[in-house]
Parts: sequence; structure tokens; C-alpha cells
Amino acid sequence: MENIDWGNLSFGYMKTDCNVRSYFRDGQWSEPQVSTSEMIDLHMAATCLHYGQESFEGLKAFTGKDGKIRIFRMRENALRMQSSCRGIMMAELPVEIFEKCVVEAVKQNSRFVPPYGSGASLYIRPLLIGTSAQVGVKPANEYLFLVFVTPVGPYFKEGFKTTPVGIFREYDRAAPLGTGTYKVGGNYAASLIAGNKAHEKGYSAVLYLDAKEKKYVDECGPANFFGIKNNTYITPASTSILQSITNKSLMQLAKDMGMKVEQRQVPIEELATFEEAGMCGTAAVISPIQRVDDVNENKSYVFSKDGKAGEVSTKLYNKLKAIQCGDEPDVYGWVTLVE
Ligand code: PLP
Ligand code: COI
Repeated sequence: MENIDWGNLSFGYMKTDCNVRSYFRDGQWSEPQVSTSEMIDLHMAATCLHYGQESFEGLKAFTGKDGKIRIFRMRENALRMQSSCRGIMMAELPVEIFEKCVVEAVKQNSRFVPPYGSGASLYIRPLLIGTSAQVGVKPANEYLFLVFVTPVGPYFKEGFKTTPVGIFREYDRAAPLGTGTYKVGGNYAASLIAGNKAHEKGYSAVLYLDAKEKKYVDECGPANFFGIKNNTYITPASTSILQSITNKSLMQLAKDMGMKVEQRQVPIEELATFEEAGMCGTAAVISPIQRVDDVNENKSYVFSKDGKAGEVSTKLYNKLKAIQCGDEPDVYGWVTLVE
């Protein structure tokens, strides 16, 4: 076994032993097949290359104190991928095949699941692409689903520390009735320029406003947004954001902690009233926000004067991590044990 420095992993790709694939041909998905190749053999006219028929997912597996491997909310990712398939007219993958491939990929690569307490996790990346040739703009009739895994550290190198995020009003990520609610590659391509600009200016991420009116908070490049005030967890409702599974989990945990939860439009001016704010997602977990700069308007909203994460964000973060690692009971059936 290579010597992996579990405590110092970044969020990047590392080769593991194998990946798991299922092919859609003649109207049917094949049984999962294990492959040791990191390559795929693809037709040059495949629809994923030309017309963006591509969806991906992101979920994580953790090792508990008991040494058991736990996958977090896998079914939710399977259902969201089905929604993405419907959104861009790809063959819908049955939940059972999604789950079988994910479990098999984790099992076969169990030596890459970071140990308990390392702070790292196994990132699971399911991918579904249109593989058959089309030259006209039409959906493919053949698809490939594959799952690879890679051990990762924090998405933002700071980990659970506050960072600044920026609003850049000259860019949109997704249109109000476009593909923002689907996890498809095109949304991420659309976010690259703004993301790059943000990083150059020292921001960890872009905070997007609604594309139509630029009045309401949408989400961050790779994560949903939430704010905390008056014992209330507030997160945007919007037709152009991804329905984050982490956010859904945090809303439940906030309720369990006796907080009110509001999912509604969040006017940009309301940022001034939040006691805490954060980004949340599988990769981001909770990444507390130090301040939001509305760059074009020359305005700042500060949530943390001392750079520390807020009390509520910290509590939510610890609670989520504890459930994911099995330190706290899994009362909602969020965790799948890999035997
Ligand atoms: N929003 C976007 C645009 C994302 O890419 C992600 C990451 O998956 C999220 C939100 C968070 O979603 P989840 O918590 O399901 O990972
Ligand atoms: C995730 O959190 O799983 C994501 O997909 C976000 C980013 C890496 C694209």
C-alpha cells in the first residue's frame, strides 16, 4: 500500500484500484462491471462531447470508530441523478443500479477509505454520459454510467475556517428556467470564468444572485448558501439552484436543535442581518463565510470579525460529521454500512 498522508490530502484526484460501470444499450442497463482502467473508449461524435449530455454526482464514505465504512445519503444522490437525466433527456438510471455501483466501488477500494479521525473521506464520483453518435442536436440512445472514488481532504484548503466570498454581477451561472437545478457539467463550465476571477481576487468562491433580477441570493459555485439569525436557519428557495443534500440534512438538524427553518427568497440586503453565514455541500461540508463582498457595488457584509466560525455553524458541522462517522445514532436512516 502506498503511503497516503491522510491528514494532508487536498481535494483532488488520486488513482485507486478500480471503478464500476454500467452500460445502457438496446433500452437496458447492464449489470455493474468492475474496470481497472482509468480510461473510457468514446465515439468522437458522442453526445456528451458535443451537446453536454453529462451529469455527475458527489457523495462521501467515512470510516467510523468501529472500523466500519459508512456511505452518506446515497439514495438521495441516486434520485437527484434521475432528475438530472430527465432534465437533459438521458436514459434514467434505476436507483438500484446506482446504489450497487457505488457500494461496489467503495468495497473494491476500501483500502482508500481514510481512517477514522483523519479528517479525510472517500469522495465518490458517479458520472453518466451520452455515448452514442449524433450530429444533429438529439439525445443519445446509448449511455455509460460509471463510479470512481478518490480519497480527499477539504474542498477549501482552509477547512472549517471562515473565508470571504464575492458577488460578481457580470456573470450568471444558470438561468431561472434553465439547468441550474440539475447536476450537469454545463453549469460548471458556465461558472469557470467567475470562479477563476474570484480566486484571483482572494475569494474562496462566487456567490451568485438570481440571474433575472439580481435581487436575491442564489447559491455559491460549488455549494448552497445559508444564513443564521434569531435562532433561524435561512436558505434560498430558487428555480436555478441545485437541491443540496447537505443543506437538506442541515435543515433537519437545525430543526432538531430547536431552530426555525426557512427556505425562501433571500433578498441581498438581508445579508446585513445575518449573524452567521456559510456554504454547504458534500465537498464543502460547511464552509463558514467570513464576509460577502458585492464587488461591483463596493459593498461588504461581514459575518465574522475575528475570522472564527459562528456557534451555530460549528454545532451543525459537528453534528453532521458525527452522524456521517457513526459517532451519533443515525436516526433518519441516512447512512449505508458497507459490509
Ligand atoms: N450546489 C452546487 C452547484 C453543487 O455543485 C453542490 C455540490 O454537489 C451543492 C450545491 C451541494 O450539494 P450536495 O450537498 O448535495 O453535495
Ligand atoms: C460536491 O460537493 O460533491 C460537488 O460536486 C461540488 C464540486 C466538487 C463540483
